[in-house]
Amino acid sequence: MLVGGLRVTLNYTMAYPRTGAKMVKTVWIGDVQSGSYDNQVVELKGWVKRTRGSNKIRFIVLRDSTGTIQCVAKRDVLGDASFDAVKAALIESSIIITGTVNVDERSEGGHELVVSSVEIIGPVNPERPFPITESAMAAADGGETEFLLDNRHLYLRTSRMTTMLKVRSSVFGAIHGYFRDLDFVEYQAPNFVAGAVEGGSTLFEVPYFGRTAYLTQSWQLYAEAAMPALERLYTIAPSFRAEKSRTRRHLTEFWHAEMEVAWASNDEIMSHGEGVVRNIASTLLDERTPELESLGRDLDLVARYADSPYPRMRYDEAVETLQGMGVDVEWGQDLDYSKEKVLTQDFDVPHFLTHYPKIAKPFYHRVDTEDEKYVLCHDLLAPEGYGEIIGGGERTWSEEEILKRLDEEGTPHEPYQFYIDTRSYGGVPHGGFGLGVDRVCSWLTGADHIREVIPFPRDSRRVTP
Ligand code: 4AD
Ligand code: MG
Repeated sequence: MLVGGLRVTLNYTMAYPRTGAKMVKTVWIGDVQSGSYDNQVVELKGWVKRTRGSNKIRFIVLRDSTGTIQCVAKRDVLGDASFDAVKAALIESSIIITGTVNVDERSEGGHELVVSSVEIIGPVNPERPFPITESAMAAADGGETEFLLDNRHLYLRTSRMTTMLKVRSSVFGAIHGYFRDLDFVEYQAPNFVAGAVEGGSTLFEVPYFGRTAYLTQSWQLYAEAAMPALERLYTIAPSFRAEKSRTRRHLTEFWHAEMEVAWASNDEIMSHGEGVVRNIASTLLDERTPELESLGRDLDLVARYADSPYPRMRYDEAVETLQGMGVDVEWGQDLDYSKEKVLTQDFDVPHFLTHYPKIAKPFYHRVDTEDEKYVLCHDLLAPEGYGEIIGGGERTWSEEEILKRLDEEGTPHEPYQFYIDTRSYGGVPHGGFGLGVDRVCSWLTGADHIREVIPFPRDSRRVTP
């Protein structure tokens, strides 16, 4: 903004219109708890997590995005008006508290704030107190899970969800870091598309000005169009699947990290899959150890996933293993969750399954010239019963082969003409994979259900809030 010819940068130190509070925040509770402000006077901004006490003294547990601290407020210090305001402040009121940081072994986190003044910023109406309480959860008609999903917008600020969101952020950062360090270019594909990538049964139809469009299931086909331009490319973007069945690992909208590389074989692509997953595990150990501990995750397991190589096994061997375990599985089927769960229960690290039967996979998978019953593909299966987190492989790259594969599947050429064209002008061997980011978050945090790791989970029954 220009004031009297000078460029002035607006910042949040402008007076807050209603209360006059300064809106820049300089002190974080996490730093107070780690000892950076011992015996100093600080101004803390946050939300009331819990409050208790008497008419003379109140204990307020204040939270912000970095932690919690107990604050002790006394009537004889604050005066009646301020003390009564504190006493009336309900859970999730936003509040600014000034006070002295005391080292106190008995307090959670080892510190306590002795309050000298308080300002309530966003009070909570006593007629509509914060709805997420133990008793409300126990009494909810549809059960606790549905109650928390209905109140997801408020549930996000609870410590478990906050922790999940922080872990999730580090997972995204680790994926970007892995690819950018290797000079991959981040590239965006459209979300409205004209055809399926992963089979018609999970396509979302969208009315599109008198025509039908679909929400994309994968960035892949459009990435292949840019492969001759960029050679090494990746994205993290939402993908959409009309999954009717509700399982602990399916969402209708999920976050998909995908990559595509020119001149690459199935083996090379697998080594990137292993590389990115190990980088995610080691990044979490670097950045999110307290969070993983608070979720009850065994850090030795995460360290093993970061440090160990991931073995490779052919599909046929997996089917034989399953059959040996008494699982009803026929050669030629794609392995669904019920089978992967059994197979991966005893894995100590993720395993790649390679060489699936051609009949189990879409047209874009490249046929193995050594045995045309198979395709040169891989799934990466996470241990502990989590199952598939990556699907990828080599692409059918010559024009002749892609036309043959489309015809074998009975797939019309028209929506894929752009894709066929990429082969007509200098096709080269290439491949890539897609990694389900939410699935990886779910596995590495040890979550029971994929919806625990995404802010607003979408499934066949829920698009609200
Ligand atoms: O195995 P998928 O279907 O493979 C593809 O979409 C390829 N076109 C990717 C590529 O080669 N570029 O999906 C890839 C991954 C799965 O391994 C899984 O982790 C995740 O995406 N995924 C889902 N995650 C959550 N909810 C769903 N409904 C998912 N469907 C797939
Ligand atoms: Mg798959």
